[in-house]
Amino acid sequence: MAKSSKSTKWIKSHRNDHFVKKSIKENYLSRAAYKLIALNEKYNFLKKSTRVADLGCAPGSWLQVLSEYKNITLIIGIDILDVEEIEGTIILKKDILDCNNLEGYMENKKLNLVLSDIAPNITGISDIDQSNFSIIAKSILSFCEVNLEVNGLMIMKYFLGSSFEKTHKNLGNYFRKIDVFKPESSKKNSKEVYLVCIDFKP
Ligand SMILES: C[S@@+](CC[C@H](N)C(=O)[O-])C[C@H]1O[C@@H](n2cnc3c(N)ncnc32)[C@H](O)[C@@H]1O
Repeated sequence: MAKSSKSTKWIKSHRNDHFVKKSIKENYLSRAAYKLIALNEKYNFLKKSTRVADLGCAPGSWLQVLSEYKNITLIIGIDILDVEEIEGTIILKKDILDCNNLEGYMENKKLNLVLSDIAPNITGISDIDQSNFSIIAKSILSFCEVNLEVNGLMIMKYFLGSSFEKTHKNLGNYFRKIDVFKPESSKKNSKEVYLVCIDFKP
């Protein structure tokens, strides 16, 4: 299919998407909000969290959801892109590949929750994309080693593929339990899943 007809098709299906319509109605910056909401409906972690990092936070719909929970007193969003200010959150323009040290924001206390919705640029070449996801996963793990408290929760987006099993196994060395969850708002034809990593054991 020609590139222009592919993008016209994408725009049409995006406009008709139930979660896009819902996000516009409910003033969320993107349909991604419903992925975090679904994760929370299943695992019920937001009302128990007080200190949270949201990695790959742009445009900011997860930050909007987090800021609805008044028990969460520290929300740090990180992205390589600019993100418009969202009340009650700290937004840092950084690359997760080089950003373990949040000193100055942490007040000598660790986080209870690390979320990552990072999607590296998808090339369409499976081996490259899988390798990029695995590099990101290692960086997120290093971030957790510095910033996540013992028994903390980490949730990261991953794409099913050749590096999935190895990453899953490696995460199992650092967390008591790893669940794989696909929210209803995650497109059926996408390889996207979330790895829910429970009870950090550094
Ligand atoms: C699917 S979007 C996140 C959507 C977000 N959860 C929301 O609710 O608005 C993925 C984000 O990951 C970011 N990203 C990709 N690679 C990154 C990296 N190495 N470090 C930080 N952010 C990265 C992208 O810039 C993009 O904004």
